[in-house]
Amino acid sequence: MPADPLLRIDGLHISFKAGQQWRDVVRGVDLRVAAGEVVGLVGESGSGKSLTALSIPQVLPPGARISSGRIVFDGTDLVGLPRKAMNERRGRDIAMIFQDPLTALNPVIPVGRQIYDSMRTHQAIGHKAALARIEELLALVGIRHPRERMRAYPHELSGGMRQRVMTALAVSSNPKLLIADEPTTALDVTVQAQVIGMLDRIRRELGIAVLFISHNLDLIAEICDRVCVMYAGKVVESSSVESVFAAPRHPYTRQLLRCIPRLDADTGPMPTIPGLPPRFDSDLVGCPFAPRCDEASDRCRTSEPPTWREPGHLAVCWDAA
Ligand SMILES: Nc1ncnc2c1ncn2[C@@H]1O[C@H](COP(=O)(O)OP(=O)(O)OP(=O)(O)O)[C@@H](O)[C@H]1O
Ligand SMILES: [Mg+2]
Repeated sequence: MPADPLLRIDGLHISFKAGQQWRDVVRGVDLRVAAGEVVGLVGESGSGKSLTALSIPQVLPPGARISSGRIVFDGTDLVGLPRKAMNERRGRDIAMIFQDPLTALNPVIPVGRQIYDSMRTHQAIGHKAALARIEELLALVGIRHPRERMRAYPHELSGGMRQRVMTALAVSSNPKLLIADEPTTALDVTVQAQVIGMLDRIRRELGIAVLFISHNLDLIAEICDRVCVMYAGKVVESSSVESVFAAPRHPYTRQLLRCIPRLDADTGPMPTIPGLPPRFDSDLVGCPFAPRCDEASDRCRTSEPPTWREPGHLAVCWDAA
């Protein structure tokens, strides 16, 4: 038997209150992340990537709740964990970076000081050791002349630099899992590539597992070991990055692959899949992707598809076999 993964999400449902009813927008997500593994989460806007990610450290937006499922992290089910125990985990074991670093950084405190304060609050570390560690971390995330940069305020840094600082702050607590929700989306392509390089160093040198969320399968291919493809609140395909590119089993994944923007091209609007994902206020019958699928048959429109499995690969589709 393989060891338990670091993170195991089973049957996760997340709902929002709409009028008198709760409506599921995440509809049964299963997800595994092993210690030290980098897993990509990809899917169109609204597929539930961020809500899934936010549910792990339990920082869902107001009005959202986990309606069922388990989120087992390092042996403990986080769902229903008392707030105090959850807060400790959040500060220490699970870290998160976002698209917009300014929301995570305090504008009136120099960046080095912010990392210093966080380390001194959460860890038994002395003054000198903390300073040395900050210098190391800033160098690891690719900041040159870290000693001078420590004194800069967030607004004095470029977007890419701020992303690096936020990452250094996030990993300063030695987390086991770093959740990166579209950390490169606001950046230009050259800087995107640098941020990917930085995440790769973090995983290699610190051994931190990463859940990397992106619209862009090309970026996912750069750093991830495995990829989970989400559609309408569910993981519809999951496998190693190699087999998703070489032999995708779900038509939605094949369509996404056709929409990959080139890293070397101008960042124009990304080519998109015709049609729209289903609305969450309608009852879903059959495969939610069927209305947009060019391979759909009658049974896809009427019956929920089964999960096809092979070791290390699964796809929720009638025709995956
Ligand atoms: N604050 C909210 N109130 C009501 N519904 C919401 C709210 N936030 C998200 N949702 C619903 O949950 C769905 C999933 O949202 P989520 O933010 O997880 O998508 P995403 O995959 O991260 O999309 P994106 O790629 O645009 O970031 C959305 O389509 C929306 O219907
Ligand atoms: Mg999102």
